Amino acid sequence: MAHRVYNFAPGPAMLPIAVMERAQAEFLDFQGLGASVVEISHRSKEFEALVDETDALLREAMTIPANYRILYVHGGASMQFAAVPLNLIGRVPSRRALYADTGNFAGRAIAEARRYGEICIAASSAATNHDRIPEIDPAALEGEAAYFHLTSNNTLYGTRWNDFPDTGEVPLVADATSDILSRTLDVSRFGVLYAGAQKNLGTSGVAVVLIREDLLDHADPQTPNLLNYETYARDHSLTNTPNTFSIYMIRLVLEWLAAQGGVAAMQCVNEEKARLLYERIDRSGFYAGYAQPAHRSASNVTFNLTTPELLQRFLDEALREDLYALKGHRALGGVRASLYNAMPLEGVRALIDFMDAFEQRNG
Ligand SMILES: Cc1ncc(COP(=O)(O)O)c(C=O)c1O
Repeated sequence: MAHRVYNFAPGPAMLPIAVMERAQAEFLDFQGLGASVVEISHRSKEFEALVDETDALLREAMTIPANYRILYVHGGASMQFAAVPLNLIGRVPSRRALYADTGNFAGRAIAEARRYGEICIAASSAATNHDRIPEIDPAALEGEAAYFHLTSNNTLYGTRWNDFPDTGEVPLVADATSDILSRTLDVSRFGVLYAGAQKNLGTSGVAVVLIREDLLDHADPQTPNLLNYETYARDHSLTNTPNTFSIYMIRLVLEWLAAQGGVAAMQCVNEEKARLLYERIDRSGFYAGYAQPAHRSASNVTFNLTTPELLQRFLDEALREDLYALKGHRALGGVRASLYNAMPLEGVRALIDFMDAFEQRNG
């Protein structure tokens, strides 16, 4: 058995061992073809069937309504920061779109969108360094808007939207990269929901995009063909050679997820993992949680220690105990424990035991 750590990385992140063993076992010979899944044509009937199966598994896992299309788009989640305005902002003559600024990735989405239209910040947590989900400015919702973009879980700061805003006729667009498949989301509340694959879906380089069919046909004329949602929908994401390995991994992860009882079962475990860890953080003044309690993420748990020296000692000693990649993002510092679907409860228990012992030695 290979040496394995509990991997708290924010992404690319821990994947289920069963998934990686399966990929390893069938890597040289996919479905008896005598060739690997990365060696066969994306137009072969075997690969097209794999895309169909992946769609069906995702549709089942997320209860995706029939009037939504599933796209596998090149370039990860950040490419969607451009694809969303390119495909949607021309829906209204004013080219106005609303964004919630909840830090980092939300900010990057805003910066990219500003190249294409008039971006209105309808809510911002900048004043409190993104430690919470901000209130929406009702005035921003007046007037036409092509869409309202938010980041359903903020990977860096460890906050998440628990209630999504009612934007009326304005389609809600969500970057769900760090919470897709970790909790039930009502897809019908969103016009577009997208996620980079490298956390709960599989490996990096591809984004899964769910889009309501009526939003498909609004791309700006200069939109690159390979960023045009209509193109992906028409060609079943096989316009050119896709990231075949990533799509294959998504299918394996979805099969694993179904065997665990699906998203609802996963959500129960995830909420328990987060509850235990936040409870440990709050138990004494030794550790300080970052996010406001009402807006805490179950995917990314952020906290700090009282001095930089203590923080460094914490990270060094944790690593020696096989608790890997706990260092917070450079923009925030501190500790970040990412608890995506593949992180077992035992991993969180091991972290909590370490935190107890570390406090005893240093408190
Ligand atoms: C919420 C969120 N959006 C976007 C991204 C960027 O993803 P990618 O590196 O696939 O572009 C990340 C990556 O961690 C993320 O957490």
